Amino acid sequence: MSRAPATSPFTPGYGVLPQVWAGREREFRDFDEVVVPRVRARTYEQARIVTGDRGVGKTVLLTQLADEAADAGDLVAQATARTGPSVVGDLVAALAGTLHAASTAAAVTDAIDETLRRRIGLTVSASSVRLDLGASAGARKRADLDALATSLAVLLERTARAAADRGRLLLLTIDEAQNAGSGALEVLCHTLADVQNRHDRTTGPRGEAVRAYLPLAVYLAGLPSLPERIRSSGSTFFERALTFDLGLLRDPDVATALRGMLDNASVGIEPEALDRLVALIGGYPYFLHLYGKHAWLAGHGDVITLAEVEVAAEAAATDLTRFYGERVRGLGDVAYDWLVAAARLPADERTVGAVAAQLGRTSPQLGSTVESLIGRALIRHEPGRGRFSFALPGLDRYLVPGG
Ligand SMILES: Nc1ncnc2c1ncn2[C@@H]1O[C@H](COP(=O)(O)OP(=O)(O)O)[C@@H](O)[C@H]1O
Ligand SMILES: [Mg+2]
Repeated sequence: MSRAPATSPFTPGYGVLPQVWAGREREFRDFDEVVVPRVRARTYEQARIVTGDRGVGKTVLLTQLADEAADAGDLVAQATARTGPSVVGDLVAALAGTLHAASTAAAVTDAIDETLRRRIGLTVSASSVRLDLGASAGARKRADLDALATSLAVLLERTARAAADRGRLLLLTIDEAQNAGSGALEVLCHTLADVQNRHDRTTGPRGEAVRAYLPLAVYLAGLPSLPERIRSSGSTFFERALTFDLGLLRDPDVATALRGMLDNASVGIEPEALDRLVALIGGYPYFLHLYGKHAWLAGHGDVITLAEVEVAAEAAATDLTRFYGERVRGLGDVAYDWLVAAARLPADERTVGAVAAQLGRTSPQLGSTVESLIGRALIRHEPGRGRFSFALPGLDRYLVPGG
């Protein structure tokens, strides 16, 4: 294959499954060796909560797991939360669709009686199920949410049973879960915790009592603020779940993935060019594709050179300005000034007190600013006393060029 724009293995963007995965062995191994075998065997298994900043790979992880499950004959239902209460309705629609495809239209109408169907706006025909968007998007009233919650619980159980009948599991994924309004999150967590607890009592070979749980695997993904949002929704869901915090990738994993992608395309890379590219990427999955693309485009030879990677660094600058600009867009003056002041400080001196001092304020005066920056996933607490770091690699250099 020749090195041309059309043959680039890099796919900058969001939610695009990479041709070659970098790292994330821990998450894949957990799915393959723990979640799938245990849930299929109907053993109780904790829900997984996947957290991480934007662009670290939450969406593609869920997509990959869902693809693998579907290929293996498991049932899958997926939803992405938008701001507000709509995620509950979206899940109901997704589950109704999954149940319908896995069995029959009658399975859906059996599960949800006509009165309830009318209330939530679900119509079922031989070929499809539809949830009327007006009804689900308008589910702002507590009564509507309750009707949807009832439907959700019923459909979860029925669909999980349909999976159990084939010796398979039901995988439920909810992306961007931090967007769900507090009412929806509460309903969601309570319903999931409830259904996860349901089990049949059977008798084992020696006459012992055995609990067969519903074969339901649950993955929620969201920004680092998600656990706190779930905790404050008042259910026990969070304490019972297992959290995977997707951090940046390790440099050796980035290098291996880059080599794998280039190998597949029969293109080589000079060792020093690879080192430089890995350094530019800084472990951030989104940048792997951004810098990779520019390095690919910087020449035509079948080996990427260091000079070409330097060209790529320049060429990526425009994209990066847009990328960071997008992330700080709409910030208030105080918040923006806070970020700039933090960026001026050396990385190990970025504390609330030091930043406040830079701005001639006290730490308490800036408490809500700091909270809002954390909420927007621009900065995060470092373990250890009061230190912060920028959640996006390179954001400090963007804010204070040459600083
Ligand atoms: N482990 C990885 N290896 C290679 N590419 C990745 C990896 N994780 C993410 N990416 C790439 O980064 C981009 C951003 O990932 P995405 O899942 O959209 O992030 P998030 O949902 O966390 O914001 C995706 O388009 C994907 O191609
Ligand atoms: Mg995402």
